[in-house]
Amino acid sequence: MSAPITGGALLVTGGAGFIGANFVLDWLAREGDPVVTLDALTYAGNLANLATVARDPRHTFVHGDIADRALVARLLREHQVRAIVHFAAESHVDRSIAGPDAFVKTNVLGSFALLEAAREYVGTLPDSARAAFRFLQVSTDEVYGSLGPQDPPFSETTAFDPRSPYSASKAAADHLASAAWHTYGLPVLTTHCSNNYGPFQFPEKLIPLMIRNARRGERLPVYGDGQQVRDWLHVSDHCSALRAVLARAAPGSRYNIGGSSERPNLEVVRTLCALLDELSPRTDGASYAAQIAFVTDRPGHDRRYAIDQRRIADDLGWQPQVRFEQGLRDTVRWYLEHEDWVRTVESGEYRRWLDLNYTGRDPGPAGHGSPGAPSGHADTRSQAAGGGSDKARASSAIPPDAGTAPASRKGHAR
Ligand SMILES: NC(=O)c1ccc[n+]([C@@H]2O[C@H](COP(=O)([O-])OP(=O)(O)OC[C@H]3O[C@@H](n4cnc5c(N)ncnc54)[C@H](O)[C@@H]3O)[C@@H](O)[C@H]2O)c1
Repeated sequence: MSAPITGGALLVTGGAGFIGANFVLDWLAREGDPVVTLDALTYAGNLANLATVARDPRHTFVHGDIADRALVARLLREHQVRAIVHFAAESHVDRSIAGPDAFVKTNVLGSFALLEAAREYVGTLPDSARAAFRFLQVSTDEVYGSLGPQDPPFSETTAFDPRSPYSASKAAADHLASAAWHTYGLPVLTTHCSNNYGPFQFPEKLIPLMIRNARRGERLPVYGDGQQVRDWLHVSDHCSALRAVLARAAPGSRYNIGGSSERPNLEVVRTLCALLDELSPRTDGASYAAQIAFVTDRPGHDRRYAIDQRRIADDLGWQPQVRFEQGLRDTVRWYLEHEDWVRTVESGEYRRWLDLNYTGRDPGPAGHGSPGAPSGHADTRSQAAGGGSDKARASSAIPPDAGTAPASRKGHAR
């Protein structure tokens, strides 16, 4: 273990995205140190996520690309940055299947540029500041591949076996970060977390997409048989784990972070429906579960992820605090109270993406809707929801009267 780092600014990349924004808000609420947020504001980044710290003198927002080495070098120098927390990424598996180039560009080349800028900057620091500097590479459990039902969970020594362009690009960045530590001594920390959920998650991911679609009377697309298992981690637990890693982990170390909440996707969707039935019932009295529709599975869809997190518990004393049932209830409440936010982040680009990903996606194996779904709900152009955090979903249409009849909203495709 090394000495905790204190003093100086944090450079948070991707801080206008889901996890990054939660991290920035959490950090500023708990720690005194300033934060510089660097974000390219892609479709997934939204300044509204940081609205509550817009006037906080400890927070600086910079609109820019992690691949811009001159910009990053200037920010590191001017703000005397003592740690980089690297969230910026293209993060959506389905998008990586439809168009992998952006994933290589940002996740691999962008991360490499950031590492190089950090290496150059650290070389200019006095010994004590160099020893205290940290580069935190925020990665995913998806780099480990897919588990069978009886396989042991991923540990930090599980071999990488990425299956999608997204996870391959994250694995490549992890290797480059590891190389920067082993070759140049850049004090890198790497974390592999499971599926996050909570406030400010873009509604292309499983949980917010289902809430959005349910409320709009649209179908709730479930990939394949819905039995893909994910370990759900509340974003506040992820933030506390990252703070623990930054404060106490030794340079060069690697930690898995999970929520101890393995659930099949279909169970998550059904639980969401039950929560919505209680908190915001359909006007026709039927359950939102009637809107569930099984659709064709994602190519190469990983079956199960599970996390062995004994290392972070033993070394850093970290454990997740949020029970999945409570976290999901709080999340549903948050989305119900922030439907304006959802509308705001749904740009034209987002709607074009829904068209691209879901046009022509067939109904699932049985071509059926879900148990209890009104016939016709499994429209071939429905959205699909797969793995949660780094995963699928999108829209389609059923009349606003909460799922009582299929309908094809003009252009809803997919
Ligand atoms: N969401 C999850 O469940 C999950 C799980 C495991 C790991 N992760 C990792 O955590 C990180 C954050 O995930 P998220 O869900 O918050 O992602 P997100 O897609 O919500 O946010 C990504 C942010 O990065 C920004 N960005 C993209 N390209 C950029 C570039 N070239 N330069 C600067 N900024 C850029 C976007 O504008 C956006 O604000 C990612 O690295 C992801 O791989 C996420």
